Amino acid sequence: MKLCTTLAWLLAGCSAAASPPARYDAARDELQPPADYRAWRYLSSGFQIGYGPAALAAAAGGVGSYDTVFVEPAAYAQFERTGAWPDGTLFVLEIRTGEHTGSIVTTGHYQTDLLGLEAEIKDARIPGGWGFFDLAAGGPAKRLPATAACYSCHATNAAVENTFTQFYPTLYPIAQAHGTVRKDFVGIPPSASEIHDLIVARGFAAARTALDAAVAKWPEATIAREVSLNGLGYRFLREHRADLAVDVLADVLRRFPDSANAYDSLGEAYEAAGKRDLAREVSERGLAKLEGIPAGPRRDAIATSLRERAARTRTP
Ligand code: HEC
Repeated sequence: MKLCTTLAWLLAGCSAAASPPARYDAARDELQPPADYRAWRYLSSGFQIGYGPAALAAAAGGVGSYDTVFVEPAAYAQFERTGAWPDGTLFVLEIRTGEHTGSIVTTGHYQTDLLGLEAEIKDARIPGGWGFFDLAAGGPAKRLPATAACYSCHATNAAVENTFTQFYPTLYPIAQAHGTVRKDFVGIPPSASEIHDLIVARGFAAARTALDAAVAKWPEATIAREVSLNGLGYRFLREHRADLAVDVLADVLRRFPDSANAYDSLGEAYEAAGKRDLAREVSERGLAKLEGIPAGPRRDAIATSLRERAARTRTP
């Protein structure tokens, strides 16, 4: 039984732990569209993930779309504490057109028109505990029937209780920490921060095994790219953990043996770790790899860095 009526909520007589005003009417099986959802907690914007008819039609016509997800603040706060959604949690998914030209934009995208508005609620009064709604028409929306594609796609592919928490970067680590990610979830590639934390917690060798497995499973993943792993090495340098930076950047060179930039970065880490001879050696070897980079300011900058370090570390 709800101890907190909508009126009591509005009069602020309820504690922060209580539910927000109910918008789902179980007797009518319909949802009152929340007008204020843009003031809720923002979860993420997926670009070109679109799966509904409007997004698919736009994509087929060469127009991208964003899926932006909002959830009520009290539910967000509870998820942060428990890794699970409380009964009554309401999500709104806003689908917007992506524009790719105009102003300073040349290769990126930004959001414009509303293409669709959908909602999902966790409510024990609904068979299965979850309900989906199309809010595009405005006004109260009847719950979509259990045969709608929403239910099966979410039940099959969402990582945490019918929700795509795997795509919500502030919440996914919380779900992992609380063990609320479903056991048969196929997973997503680890982020650089996850690998960072693994190195700190379990040492470089264990993290490298995990990284190798991730790269084998997802060769196209962001973490498999030189720029990501290089950034991880520099993160350790900024944290004054030069030994770990050496471990990471030596591994980058192992993965990208023709990259002059990888030699340069490892040289920098060796120098920071006080290993001048090794810094000089890799910097000199890096100079032989410069042709791999197209002529231009980037190649010039790496060449200067390699030469200056080689000279600097030659003198005692
Ligand atoms: C083919 C799979 C698929 C189908 C069908 C589908 N969704 Fe989703 N849904 C997703 C994905 C993926 C996300 C993650 C957010 C995104 O799109 O970037 C999502 C997120 C959502 C969210 C945000 C909360 C959450 O669960 O993470 C809502 C609300 C939502 N969908 C509503 C609907 C409704 C309503 C329908 C049916 C009309 C529907 N969805 C059909 C895949 C699907």
